[in-house]
Amino acid sequence: MDNASSGNTPKRKKEHLELCLTEKVAFKNKSNGLERYEFIHNAITALDPEKIDLSREFFGHRISYPFLISCMTGGTSEAENINQQLAVAANELNIPLGVGSQRQALENSHFAESYRVVRKNAPGIPILGNIGAAQLVQMSSLREIEYLVELIEAQAMVIHLNPLQELLQKGGDTNFSGLLEKIEWLSKNISVPVVAKEVGAGISKAAAKSLLEAGVRAIDVAGAGGTSWAGVEILRNKEDENSEFWDWGLPTSYCIREVRPLKDEYDFLLIASGGISSGMEIAKAIALGADMAASARIVLQKLHHEGITGVKELIVGWFDVVKKVMYLTGSARLEELQEQKLIKKEELY
Ligand SMILES: Cc1cc2nc3c(=O)[nH]c(=O)nc-3n(C[C@H](O)[C@H](O)[C@H](O)COP(=O)(O)O)c2cc1C
Repeated sequence: MDNASSGNTPKRKKEHLELCLTEKVAFKNKSNGLERYEFIHNAITALDPEKIDLSREFFGHRISYPFLISCMTGGTSEAENINQQLAVAANELNIPLGVGSQRQALENSHFAESYRVVRKNAPGIPILGNIGAAQLVQMSSLREIEYLVELIEAQAMVIHLNPLQELLQKGGDTNFSGLLEKIEWLSKNISVPVVAKEVGAGISKAAAKSLLEAGVRAIDVAGAGGTSWAGVEILRNKEDENSEFWDWGLPTSYCIREVRPLKDEYDFLLIASGGISSGMEIAKAIALGADMAASARIVLQKLHHEGITGVKELIVGWFDVVKKVMYLTGSARLEELQEQKLIKKEELY
């Protein structure tokens, strides 16, 4: 994710990657809230587990699992290596993959390859482009952003909303003036659908409504409970880790519950992310109303320690759990998992 002082971007990206791989950057005293729910067991389930369907449509593609590897990286040599491996894993799993902020590809063609490598290694899946809200507000030509789409033959363009991170980052760009108008302009004119995502502080119902009015076709709530980007910047700045902003944000489960009712008014894809780290959590996020789930840091860590095979095994293992949950709740399709299948834990006793 970016800020105004572009010269330091590769160094900052490197630090972000290192901190996410080596330090405790999770929320400290706030969870994504999914542990507060339990599934209602169905003692009379009569499904054939083999016939449970996990596939879904994603911007015109049928993907094998309702899961997206979240936007993470690009613009450094480490990033190129990571993107290449994530692309192989996502392509073999037939799931979408987001690239990290493509700002550097605009600044220097030298960096283009670290993004292009994704499409080269993943010819068959939806790939999502990515640009920060702070850059979008400064853009005046559609050509630049269409170049980013072409670079990876993207199926959608993600705009990341990260005011908390920019606020805590030294030299961060906190000027988002005209953001909604720019998102509306982009949604009307760009050749692919626009996706709005946070990076770990969540999207409220009111913010989601404004984004949908502006024309976005998907919202990834990226709520609190997983990676704290306030935390990452606080560590980079070597500031007091007890900062009250470390845990700032709306938990993922709250965001899903709040944003889901907007589906009655708007046609959009609701993506649940922010600390998603198990198949049970994915199942709960979908049961609460998300169309699909996404994860970032846990996938990166898996790749770092266990390579492409580790990432594939992680995601296949998660969906084995989702399938079992669907069987035990009598849900043959993902939509059926959303039919009052959850109960709040406190109601059980
Ligand atoms: C190393 C790393 C780099 C990231 N860079 C970006 C980025 O460039 N653009 C973006 O939209 N999100 C970026 N993110 C944020 C994630 O997409 C995600 O929204 C956030 O980390 C919360 O998900 P998690 O709890 O599963 O990590 C990055 C995350 C990580 C771990």
